[in-house]
Amino acid sequence: MEVARSYANARGMASVLVVGGAGYVGSSVAAHLHDQGDQVWVLDDLSTGHRSLVLDSVRSAGRFIESRAGDRSVVEALLRSEKFDAVFHFAAKSLVGESVKQPEIYWENNVAQTKSLLDAMLVSGVKRFVFSSTAAVYGDPGDQEISEDLPENPISPYGETKLAAEALLAQYGLDHGLRSIALRYFNAAGAESQLRVGEHHDPETHLIPNLLAAALADQPISVFGSDYETRDGTCLRDYIHVEDLAHAHAAAFRRMLQEGTSVKGFEAFNLGSESGFTVREVISAAERILGKKIRQNFLPRRPGDPAKLVAVATRARQALGFKPRENAMESILTSAFEWESKKRAPKKAVFLDRDGTLNPDPGYLSDVDQFELFPGVVDALREFQAAGFLLVVISNQSGIARGKITHDQLHRIHEKLDRLLAEHGIHIHHYALCLHHPDEDCACRKPKPKLILETASRYSIDLSRSFMIGDKMSDVECGRNAGLAGSFMVGTGYGAVEMKNLGDSSTHFFKSLGEVVAQIVRR
Ligand code: UFG
Repeated sequence: MEVARSYANARGMASVLVVGGAGYVGSSVAAHLHDQGDQVWVLDDLSTGHRSLVLDSVRSAGRFIESRAGDRSVVEALLRSEKFDAVFHFAAKSLVGESVKQPEIYWENNVAQTKSLLDAMLVSGVKRFVFSSTAAVYGDPGDQEISEDLPENPISPYGETKLAAEALLAQYGLDHGLRSIALRYFNAAGAESQLRVGEHHDPETHLIPNLLAAALADQPISVFGSDYETRDGTCLRDYIHVEDLAHAHAAAFRRMLQEGTSVKGFEAFNLGSESGFTVREVISAAERILGKKIRQNFLPRRPGDPAKLVAVATRARQALGFKPRENAMESILTSAFEWESKKRAPKKAVFLDRDGTLNPDPGYLSDVDQFELFPGVVDALREFQAAGFLLVVISNQSGIARGKITHDQLHRIHEKLDRLLAEHGIHIHHYALCLHHPDEDCACRKPKPKLILETASRYSIDLSRSFMIGDKMSDVECGRNAGLAGSFMVGTGYGAVEMKNLGDSSTHFFKSLGEVVAQIVRR
């Protein structure tokens, strides 16, 4: 798809906020906007997104904010502090089945938080909005053509909440002059060609990643329903490459910039490739590309699945220059396979306790201004990172359950840690936290190994090449219980006391993080 950039040339660099930019489609759009020369900020609460899907350049520049879209004070402060040309909004719950079971979460997340974001924009003077919407607003239209003229008729709370958010946008256009474009995607799939970002849901429910995972593990793929009124009895869908979606978002933004401030109001566009594939056809295409048979396990229908959803995208073609690629299924499956393989490539990691290991621990530190790193920590972490280790913080934070600190305070501390490290190009890949009270019988409080094991499975971390470092025996035991290659205690923080009292010769005691680096990286 051709991507003109006249607005960038005419206006210089645009500044955009991508809310939900650590998720699948949001991260792909953020990466594309960045490549086009825009200054990209990402705001995401990481509830379903991943820190690792935020581009390094965004994180290093301190332009990643970990926050809910509905956190009015954080969002408003950000919108007031920067001059954004537009906000892109992807932060939403998006599982049809889950929405039927827990509709209230969907109304809160997809509607109330969107409203809060729009209100923050209004008072900050940001008036352009690109909204991630869905084909689910049409419900189950049977054999009718799905153009934007078809009356919306959602059949799940997910579709209802997206439609309600669209109605809000239309109302804000009339009442407050908001200019907004909703993009209704059909089935987003595939990965961007550079493989910096891609699909990473937890749990994964979508056909293509599940299918590739099944193929990689030599397991059968579950096929939900084979008695639909389609050409082979399985559901028919319109799969659209996520890069084509990214281009369409940039085009929607460009449309709003080019029209100036005279145009107000709301528009909605379908984004699909306009051709349908049944589940069986997708499986056959994957078999051809991978050169192997994939076993199929036929199960009953999945509740809420319409038989057939194929877009008519004429309006987007005309207004946005939208031109989805030809033979999309092949490039979708090829790029998705490369991404799944990359995700599964074994990695090594250093699991780090925080309080007492990275920073002095006066006991439930709540004041972010008092947060500082021990001397030498930056150099040590930089060396670990340069040697190819992912950095994972694994931390018991019972102070919240004990009422000593708040979630928000803990959050600000992590933000500050991220900022201090980002100045040196260092990134914490993941925070694995136990927030339980010590009296609670949880499975994640150190010295239990659950946090390490879960993180390892989520990010394909090879335990036999990974290490734990902390300032307490419970840290060392946690690493040992997880079966890591080594578990070390540093003499900072509580470690100074532990070292005096203990003397366990099998424990690896070292004065500082720097000394541990020497053991692990330089040995
Ligand atoms: N399917 C399987 N096996 C799987 C996963 C899916 O057979 O392991 C089937 C589904 O039953 C469906 C088809 O593959 O028939 C596609 O399912 P996906 O879960 O990949 O995608 P959906 O069509 O259910 O969902 C997409 C978007 C939603 C949007 C919906 C609109 O992901 O956000 O389209 O109906 F709401």
